[in-house]
Amino acid sequence: MSLSLNEIFIKKFVSDSDVEAIAPEIYAANQLVRNKTGEGSDFLGWCDLPVNYDKEEFARIKVAAEKIKKSCDIFVVIGIGGSYLGARAAIEFVKSPLYNEMSKDTPSIYFAGNSISSSALADLLALCEGKDICVNVVSKSGTTTEPAVAFRIFREFLEKKYGKDGAKERIFATTDKAKGTLKKFSDEMGYETFVVPDDVGGRFSVLTAVGLLPIAVAGIDIDAMMAGAANARELYAEEDIHTNPCFRYAAIRNILYRRGKSTEILVSYEPSTQLFLEWWKQLYGESEGKDHKGIFPSSAIFSTDLHSLGQFIQDGTPNHFETVLRITNSNDTIIIPHDDANVDKLNFLSGRELDFVNRTAMLGTLFAHTDGGVPNMLVEVSNRSAFTLGHLFYFFELGCAISGYVLGVNPFNQPGVESYKKNMFALLGKEGYEDLKAELEKRIR
Ligand code: PA5
Repeated sequence: MSLSLNEIFIKKFVSDSDVEAIAPEIYAANQLVRNKTGEGSDFLGWCDLPVNYDKEEFARIKVAAEKIKKSCDIFVVIGIGGSYLGARAAIEFVKSPLYNEMSKDTPSIYFAGNSISSSALADLLALCEGKDICVNVVSKSGTTTEPAVAFRIFREFLEKKYGKDGAKERIFATTDKAKGTLKKFSDEMGYETFVVPDDVGGRFSVLTAVGLLPIAVAGIDIDAMMAGAANARELYAEEDIHTNPCFRYAAIRNILYRRGKSTEILVSYEPSTQLFLEWWKQLYGESEGKDHKGIFPSSAIFSTDLHSLGQFIQDGTPNHFETVLRITNSNDTIIIPHDDANVDKLNFLSGRELDFVNRTAMLGTLFAHTDGGVPNMLVEVSNRSAFTLGHLFYFFELGCAISGYVLGVNPFNQPGVESYKKNMFALLGKEGYEDLKAELEKRIR
């Protein structure tokens, strides 16, 4: 597997000696991860997951995926944050953003419970009318409001259609092995359950049943994905800042942050990576953004967003840098046809591959943005295979853990997410939140 960090365009912003200077901090942060001696070390289970996973459950995931494939037209995955982004990213990355329109031997896969929008849920329920449905409800805590509400609605939908016993065969729950309302309820109802390990946080859970079940239902080779992650685990264990691209990525982004570059834009020229960028945003945003510190993770699909964000990136407030996720080989070849009339004056491109034009757009943009003072580095992989994706998941997870420790935060908690939940519960009248409800209502009276 070749993943490389292409630094050609970063050199004028970050020198080798800058990287040498931060290297001791990178090594120290890596030791905190390896030795489990940093803050949040109870949540480092993802580190060894590619080799040290529950093989019995892995086999059960494959069996469940086959059963789901055979018994439904639509597979609804209910979850929010780390409980859906990885699976959705994988399906679009390896298959296509048009997976649902193109899938033939596998069910369409829709995601619910990641918002509280009535319209979004109503549209999906309408789509499910007259179709055979299976549901995977995913929640590590088993108590998150958004998926819990969507699950209650889908459970009613399935029970009306198939009866309680029939629904039971079509509902799969991925949650804590023992704790939480969802686990208790699933055991009572007799749903098949899968485990989110105690030591793996939501945003690091894509290589557990959280991601693996939906990904397997989409017909993606989960063995290859795990092998890609295992390959990354082995390669990035090497403690050498000169050769370890994961260390260098963590180093460069921290160097830039200390110079006021407080936004990182992860850019891709492949629309199929859009959800991967969303997965990355959650991973880095929730891991680093705390104690009034952190790089704000943003994303863009080019050349699409060059026509919306391009102006700002080139010329606006200079507080950002770009990391380009580059896939060097396109899955498909499209040749631009020749036109004798040449009315559109495009014959200079006749016979060229469309991918060549995409690559050239990237090169032109790299020159323009770096000339405009925006630092750019490239994470390059050769294709969109399951193996490559597993590798990328692990690369960014390890890069995130190391970066977080260099920044001086606990990368594995998310205390800030709780504030809105408490307010929402209070305003909705949940038991135990009476004082907060009174206080909040007074403020808007
Ligand atoms: O990374 C995290 O822990 C969070 O983003 C969670 O994934 C998200 O809040 C969903 O939580 P849960 O799986 O408990 O429903």
